[in-house]
Amino acid sequence: MVKSDNITWHHSQVSKEQRQTVNDHKSVVLWFTGLSGSGKSTIANAVEKALFDQQVHSYVLDGDNMRFGLNKNLGFSAEDREENIRRIGEVAKLFVDAGVVTLTAFISPYRADRDQVRANVEADEFIEVFVDTPLAVCEERDVKQLYAKARRGEIKGFTGIDAPYEAPEDPEITIDTSSQSLATSVDQVLTYLADHGYVQLATANEG
Ligand code: ADX
Repeated sequence: MVKSDNITWHHSQVSKEQRQTVNDHKSVVLWFTGLSGSGKSTIANAVEKALFDQQVHSYVLDGDNMRFGLNKNLGFSAEDREENIRRIGEVAKLFVDAGVVTLTAFISPYRADRDQVRANVEADEFIEVFVDTPLAVCEERDVKQLYAKARRGEIKGFTGIDAPYEAPEDPEITIDTSSQSLATSVDQVLTYLADHGYVQLATANEG
C-alpha cells in the first residue's frame, strides 16, 4: 500500500534494455540466503570480484552493512526482518533497472518475504542462491561469536537457535560450504550466469 497522495510515476528516457545493451550483459538479482555464518557474504563478494574482473557491472548489498545505514532503524523481530527484506528487494530492483548484476547477502529467513521480492521483479531477474551450510558447521565456525552468545541467552531470537530459518523449496542454486571450496562455489554461480545467458565469461569454468 502506498501512503502518499498525488504522486505520479516518471518514466526514464533510458530503458533497462538499453543499459543492458551498452553493458553487454543482463542485470539480475542473485539473492543469497542462509544462516548467519553460512558463507553468504564471502561467496557474494568473491563472485562480485570475479564478475568485476570480467567487466561485468556488479554490486553486493550486505545484511550487516545495510543495518548500519538504510536499515539502521530495524532490529530482528519478524516484522523488522520483513521490512529489512522488503527494502532490500526494492533497492535490488533499482539496481537491476540500472543494469547491474546485484548480489544480496541477507539471512532472509522467511520464505514469504523472499518470494515477495521474487514476485516484484521479472521472472528471470531473481536467482535464489541457498547457502545450505548446516547449522552445526555455522555454529562451529562462529566467526562473530554470536552463536555462543545466543546459546548463553545473551541474544534473543537468533536465527537457527531460537528464531526460525525457512529453507528455500526450489532454489536456482544450492551451495554447501562445508563440502565445497570457495573457488568451487564461485565457479558454480558464474557457470549458472553464463549457462543461462546473463553474462558471457571468458573463464566461467576456471577456478
Ligand atoms: S535478516 O534476518 O533480516 O535477513 P540480516 O541478514 O539483515 O538478517 O542480518 C543478519 C546478521 O545480523 C547476522 O549475520 C549477524 O551478524 C547479525 N545478527 C544480530 N542479531 C541477530 C539475530 N537475532 N539473528 C540473526 N542475526 C543476527
